[in-house]
Amino acid sequence: FTTIIEPFRIKSVEPIRMTTRAERVAKLKDAHFNLFALKSDDVLIDLLTDSGTGAMSAEQWAAIMRGDESYAGSPSYYRFKDSVQELMPFEHIIPTHQGRAAEAILVSIFGGTGKHIPNNTHFDTTRGNIEASGAQAYDLVIEEGKDPSSLFPFKGNMDLAKLEAFLEEHGDAVPIVMLTITNNAGGGQPVSLANIRAVSQLAHRFGKPFIIDSCRFAENAYFIKQREEGQQYRSIKDIVRDCFAVADGMTMSAKKDAFGNIGGWLAFNDDDLAEKARVRLIQTEGFPTYGGLAGRDLEALAQGLHEIIDEDYLKYRIRTNEYIVERLDKMGIPVVKPAGGHAVFVDAKSWLPHIDPLAYPAHTVAVKLYELGGIRSCEIGSVMFGRQTDGSEKPAAMELVRLAFPRRTYTQSHADYVVEAFEMLQAEKDSLTGFKVIKEPKLMRHFTCEFAPL
Ligand code: F0G
Repeated sequence: FTTIIEPFRIKSVEPIRMTTRAERVAKLKDAHFNLFALKSDDVLIDLLTDSGTGAMSAEQWAAIMRGDESYAGSPSYYRFKDSVQELMPFEHIIPTHQGRAAEAILVSIFGGTGKHIPNNTHFDTTRGNIEASGAQAYDLVIEEGKDPSSLFPFKGNMDLAKLEAFLEEHGDAVPIVMLTITNNAGGGQPVSLANIRAVSQLAHRFGKPFIIDSCRFAENAYFIKQREEGQQYRSIKDIVRDCFAVADGMTMSAKKDAFGNIGGWLAFNDDDLAEKARVRLIQTEGFPTYGGLAGRDLEALAQGLHEIIDEDYLKYRIRTNEYIVERLDKMGIPVVKPAGGHAVFVDAKSWLPHIDPLAYPAHTVAVKLYELGGIRSCEIGSVMFGRQTDGSEKPAAMELVRLAFPRRTYTQSHADYVVEAFEMLQAEKDSLTGFKVIKEPKLMRHFTCEFAPL
């Protein structure tokens, strides 16, 4: 068969409330043109994020009933911990309420003024946590990773030469080396197993702990299986284990590749680091066997981790994005290629060259896409990354519109509808003029800032 079907059927449905274009024009105004400020009831297809928005399986809902809410030592924690360790062989598994809480604890140990922390590309919350501690965050992804049209198979790879030079230059000021799989902010592009191993070796040669930001580890492993020499006949589970075997720790948002609606964790091998993390955890999240989650959440994650490494699921998951990328590409809309794991990324800088990066071309596309089709997407460009720590504004490396697909939630006809909305946008794009920011907070402005059309 050439048709790759959704490898599930639907047992419970959530209705989508239809809206008109005129209604959406009014909603946009009320939201000051920030899509985060929309009510989700006013969105037809919500591709804002793949985080916590996926559908849980019948087995996960069943597991939830088994959740044990004991404050300390709950069997739900032990089931969660065993599930994690089956894939990620770390000594210490520390649950948190979501990924950024794990990052905050990591940064409380390793961050601080004068510190320099490299990554292929820091996600915005990781960067936010690092900068808030007074440390600086650096993105050292390979050059191909910044070229939306490059077909390089592992565009999330760390630039090893740059990392080596960085470690030599900053020496003791570098507390850890991080690597994000897949590279979300760089288009959901994968990191090869060879690159993961090489980054680990470099970090260790300089005596630095190597920490993986692991949100989309299963999608990354699927790409490794598809694209990396010698990995084709291996199971996803074996590939995942190999990725984490060379790391000293991980942060995780279980809202992605653990099929959770909430959750995360931090893991270490080192006993002292784990102790420091648990002390902080108790102050900020909760006792180490629940860490800000309910026992039932831990059960859902334990089950989700068994399901996420299913190859039929991963094949369908990746195919959804490939399908949309192929169709947009045929229409002449510049998209990040190859398709990323969790999202389709449209290259708005090439598509709307008449809009200056600091008039936010990607944000302009995202707003219009909502107006035309009720589709909510997310800007990953100069709104998200443009404001510098010194207060100045600088265009981001790329101006991307991200259409992130919640896991197991939308179907093929939803994908076709999205493509149709882009057809309409194609016809109107030359008349678009961009936006200016009229109000913004000090950090991570994209979540709450307000815009006015130019
Ligand atoms: N790291 C990466 C690579 C992420 O993509 C995210 C979240 C986090 C860390 C933080 O995890 O949300 O559980 O606190 N990304 C979501 C997104 C929000 O839409 O890409 P969290």
